[in-house]
Amino acid sequence: MATTTTAKLSLTRRPRRLRRTEAIRSLVRETRLTPDCFIYPLFVVEGTGVRREVPSMPGVFQLSVDQAVKEASAARAEGVPAVLLFGLPADKDAVGSAASDPDAPVQAAVRALKREVKDLVVITDVCLCEYTSHGHCGIVEGDDIVNDVTVMHLAQAALSHAVAGADVVAPSDMMDGTVAAIRRLLDERGYEQTAIMSYAAKYCSGFYGPFREAADSVPQFGDRRSHQLDPANVDEALRQVEINISEGADIVMVKPALPYLDVLTRVKERFAQPTAAYQVSGEYSMLKAAALNGWLDERRVMFETLTGIRRAGADMIITYYAREAARLLA
Ligand code: PBG
Repeated sequence: MATTTTAKLSLTRRPRRLRRTEAIRSLVRETRLTPDCFIYPLFVVEGTGVRREVPSMPGVFQLSVDQAVKEASAARAEGVPAVLLFGLPADKDAVGSAASDPDAPVQAAVRALKREVKDLVVITDVCLCEYTSHGHCGIVEGDDIVNDVTVMHLAQAALSHAVAGADVVAPSDMMDGTVAAIRRLLDERGYEQTAIMSYAAKYCSGFYGPFREAADSVPQFGDRRSHQLDPANVDEALRQVEINISEGADIVMVKPALPYLDVLTRVKERFAQPTAAYQVSGEYSMLKAAALNGWLDERRVMFETLTGIRRAGADMIITYYAREAARLLA
């Protein structure tokens, strides 16, 4: 077969020309990942000096406020502009009272982060599931999560985050009317500059499993199908996003990310709004577990999934990989 290497096709287009070297590939690269599109989720607990690894999420820790400040400062220094805070209160009750307690972990963390970390965007998750004894996202009556009462509690929680100094509040409850209620209450109280990132297209997903361990928010009975989106639907997600924008959402979110990239593309194309995607706990744990087994090259699949999420239309990505990816991109 000595002639094989000298054979010449007469081709006008040879796409491989632009794939020849890394320098050429970098010129024609369409999607770029930079640390400034990442949002880093943190789980804040009571106490001091606490740094407790979440078993199902290696590399992710429950942190007391002082440790959260350390972690966020390091992330900021690595180029990550924002954190998303979740709180684990010391006490839970049926109505999730601790959600709007000014001294609960999230509110305390917001104050500490705004005081101690320069130029950090502090975003807070607004939901009741970490605060209720039954683990549901709202006030329960029989088998039902009562919408309007729940919304009033959520708006109070969001207000307490804004008072603490949050730049952005992120309602993740999927009740009807939460965004409107939060916007109204924040405006009434003089927090018209506090932005709202709404978990608008939040699917009822098995990929939240590890998070519920991290945030101690496993529902004690039933599930979240009465409010989160059916994974089979996309028109429904678009309607939901439209409603949330009309109620005042400044940023909309699609969640989880990888199984819903088509939804992400359609949301971005249809509404042209600042759009976030959440690479959720299960997406992270899946890659971690395979990598720890030596089955996947973690660095490659981390960047491949994050790039895919960006390519599909995300302006920003909430990811447990934020620090690791930022560090490698530097
Ligand atoms: C609700 C909330 C959840 C997540 C973010 N906010 C869990 C749920 O809806 O059960 C999941 C995030 C993840 O899996 O990483 N407060």
